[in-house]
Amino acid sequence: MSLKNVTRNIRLDAIAGLIIICGLMGIDQLSAQTVWLDQLELSTATQGYGIPMKNKSIDNNTLTIAGKTFERGFGSHSESSLTVLLEGKATLFTAQVGIDDEVKGQRPAAEFIVYGDNKKLWSSGVMRLGDAARPCSVKLEGVQKLELAVTDGGNGNYYDHVDWVDARFETNGVNTFKTYSPVATVPYILTPAPPAEPKITGAKVFGVRPGSPFQFLVTATGDRPMSFSASGLPKGLKINIQTGLITGKLSKAGTYLIILEAKNAKGKFQRKLRVECGDRIALTPPMGWNSWNCFANEVSADKVKRAADEMVKSGLINHGWTYINIDDFWENNRDSKDQSLRGKLRDEAGNIVPNSRFVDMKGLADYVHGLGLKIGLYSSPGPWTCGGCVGSYDHEKQDAESYAKWGFDYLKYDWCSYGNVINGLPNNDPYKVSSLSYNGGSEINTAMKPFKLMGEYLRQQPRDIVYSLCQYGMSDVWKWGGSVGGNSWRTTNDITDTWSSVKSIVLDQDKSAAYAKPGNWNDPDMLVVGTVGWGNPHKSKLKPDEQYLHISLWSLFSAPLLIGCDMEKLDDFTLNLLTNDEVIDVNQDPLGKQATCVQTIGDLRIYVKELEDGSRAVGFCNFGFEIVDISYKDFDKLGINGQFKVRDLWRQKEIANIETKTGQLSLKVPVHGVLLYKFTLVK
Ligand code: GAL
Repeated sequence: MSLKNVTRNIRLDAIAGLIIICGLMGIDQLSAQTVWLDQLELSTATQGYGIPMKNKSIDNNTLTIAGKTFERGFGSHSESSLTVLLEGKATLFTAQVGIDDEVKGQRPAAEFIVYGDNKKLWSSGVMRLGDAARPCSVKLEGVQKLELAVTDGGNGNYYDHVDWVDARFETNGVNTFKTYSPVATVPYILTPAPPAEPKITGAKVFGVRPGSPFQFLVTATGDRPMSFSASGLPKGLKINIQTGLITGKLSKAGTYLIILEAKNAKGKFQRKLRVECGDRIALTPPMGWNSWNCFANEVSADKVKRAADEMVKSGLINHGWTYINIDDFWENNRDSKDQSLRGKLRDEAGNIVPNSRFVDMKGLADYVHGLGLKIGLYSSPGPWTCGGCVGSYDHEKQDAESYAKWGFDYLKYDWCSYGNVINGLPNNDPYKVSSLSYNGGSEINTAMKPFKLMGEYLRQQPRDIVYSLCQYGMSDVWKWGGSVGGNSWRTTNDITDTWSSVKSIVLDQDKSAAYAKPGNWNDPDMLVVGTVGWGNPHKSKLKPDEQYLHISLWSLFSAPLLIGCDMEKLDDFTLNLLTNDEVIDVNQDPLGKQATCVQTIGDLRIYVKELEDGSRAVGFCNFGFEIVDISYKDFDKLGINGQFKVRDLWRQKEIANIETKTGQLSLKVPVHGVLLYKFTLVK
């Protein structure tokens, strides 16, 4: 046969083959009832690490759960989210889920969740390595959009290699579905530059205990040089005219009204400050920075100093950002290979000895105070912190005294290995206990005990130490956190810089909202904007609109605002996001209410927060995958009646004047984005 004929015959064979394949497809299409997940476009999924995998695990191995292998499926990594547009054409989703065996030796945990039109339809519960694949079967009649989400199971997303195997849809005859990710990716700036004239920012109320060192920085935007003064300063306090730092001591309890003034070449600005001298502190949610979301176990005194320097240099300090908080890993570690963490845990007298990266805690505190900022640190009521460093168990009094002696202003106290104590287990496995700790902490007296103990010792110190409870929301901590001296308490597991993490945290906040008040805040965890990464620095994976929504909601929630990024890598977008004084004012509002969701319209969730001046901050938050473009008129649902002016807080401009009975407001909310408005009654 000539070469020409060979080619021709191959072509003919190929054509015949194609006809057969097309024919088969035709038959298949007509009778198609099953659509496999791995037949869909998976690249639109967002996930905590790596790229979405078809029929392979995230590390490109055969999908394997608890020793069993699977040919088909979707290999991902928590936090993970894939949205499938079903348009009511699927009847059933079935799959098996689990953690892939390829991470043997690690301690992953994850929870698989199926949402239909934003309602939770199924959840696996937290799964760990070695758990047999759990079957999932979800009826889908009428569901338009399906989201397959995987959370980090509460212990961070380390090694969470997660598999949806044998995953498929039964359909009404269609043979494919679209997956979808319409979230815009290009950053855009909303906060206008502050005017040259002075404008005082930050908290309008400040709590201090009689006899405690007083430190309050008057912060302002506007051209420098600027001078500060205060009239009505009570005896015992003085203000530094150049820096605006008010220091001293108040000996008598009471309410003091002070008029602050900031002045520069362009003009002057006055604002009231109410000082409440009594037994309550943190009367507005703490604002600042924490080392964990960027440096994790790599934190050092040098990095902390640099973060503090940047707080000043970047100008963030002028917007009320105050605390510089060291998280885990300033203490010595039990089993780290890193020699800088391997020193004596405590001295002969039982006093805690910081690790070699933190040789001079007092010097560090003085340095941070010298910048006009405050400083915080971290410990655990258990023998070990979550990272395996030494905790405060059996040394609570001594530790509280050390913190005060060094000059610290804030303690984050993290449950971690306390589960060991209540379960009577040996104290030598800081990791093993993380699962037990959840069970152990569900009995309320047991849950309260260690926090009460440290709370009492902190109160005995001759300085004010903000007390931040961290036990991930066990046993409804919001109901008793204040009674053990807590100024804030985490309501959730650890946040990560993914939409699914932020969304699942947000959807869980309403239950605790009624308990927020000045001095007692619900804490949905730290901010994930800027360059974050727990030791693996990267730009936050949250899209720009998701970041606007994140900051807006944390402000509406009256949540502590703790920047979690590398301060030396602040980009323009992040800086702009963190310097909107009108948004920050919502967070710092003296009334101290927490917004709740008062209405949903499809995927639009509307959050309302009552403010001290009688106005209301309203967040129109789009949790869906389509732009919300509506004419809104349900003002009574927002608790608003009468003639109102409406201000767009991100853009800092008035956008409407509305009579609520007859008026309408046109809303265009970007996908995963927000409109943050303030409604003020026109007298
Ligand atoms: C976790 C805590 C994190 C971080 C970490 C340190 O339990 O939720 O925010 O503090 O411990 O090991």
